[in-house]
Amino acid sequence: MILSPSLLSADFGKLDEEIEMLNRSDADWIHVDVMDGVFVPNISFGMPIMKVLQEKSRKPLDVHLMIVEPEKWIERFKEAGADILNVHYEASRHLNRTLNAIHDQRMKAAVTLNPHTPVEVLEDSLEDVDMVLLMSVNPGYGGQKFIERTYNKVERLAAMRERLGLNFLIEIDGGVNLENAPELLKRGADALVAGSSVFGVPNAEQRIKEFKQL
Ligand code: DX5
Ligand code: ZN
Repeated sequence: MILSPSLLSADFGKLDEEIEMLNRSDADWIHVDVMDGVFVPNISFGMPIMKVLQEKSRKPLDVHLMIVEPEKWIERFKEAGADILNVHYEASRHLNRTLNAIHDQRMKAAVTLNPHTPVEVLEDSLEDVDMVLLMSVNPGYGGQKFIERTYNKVERLAAMRERLGLNFLIEIDGGVNLENAPELLKRGADALVAGSSVFGVPNAEQRIKEFKQL
């Protein structure tokens, strides 16, 4: 299982220490939530934080763009050190072109679905992606409640993957904790994002270990 702790829930007053902890930890990737206040009702951070991560992180950066017109930013995020670029299906008018442009920049291309978007819309895109990120909360904030219907979506997406003979990864983001993680993995998820359930406890490094032992 791939664990991608979400930096959004970290303490930005001690960003250095948080990144160092993630470097030391069993985390596989670092999930980086970029919000523009237009696609989602919140603004998080952008290039200055990417720059710190690029300098200090020793884990692949799993960048989740919650922004309109993500295609305009592909090169900039490559330059800023992104390894995986997640763009929302709902934000990209020409998804195929966007995914190709991400690959042209030698990054992994991932498409993200909001909770209301059925996995079936990806039927003709799955060949072009390295990963599908299913949102299990409405994007915009950390610490929200997991939407239970996600289990069914993971299962349907895993069945599509099987039927099409593809091997993209399935990642889940929002409200993931030690209680729902086993069921998500059972239904076919490969990667889990965890924000508040990792950073909301006194020993985040230990919590990461607990996730990885599932
Ligand atoms: C929500 C973000 C998530 C968020 C997850 O819009 O995409 O990555 O940080 O945080 P938790 O795990 O607390 O739901
Ligand atoms: Zn995210």
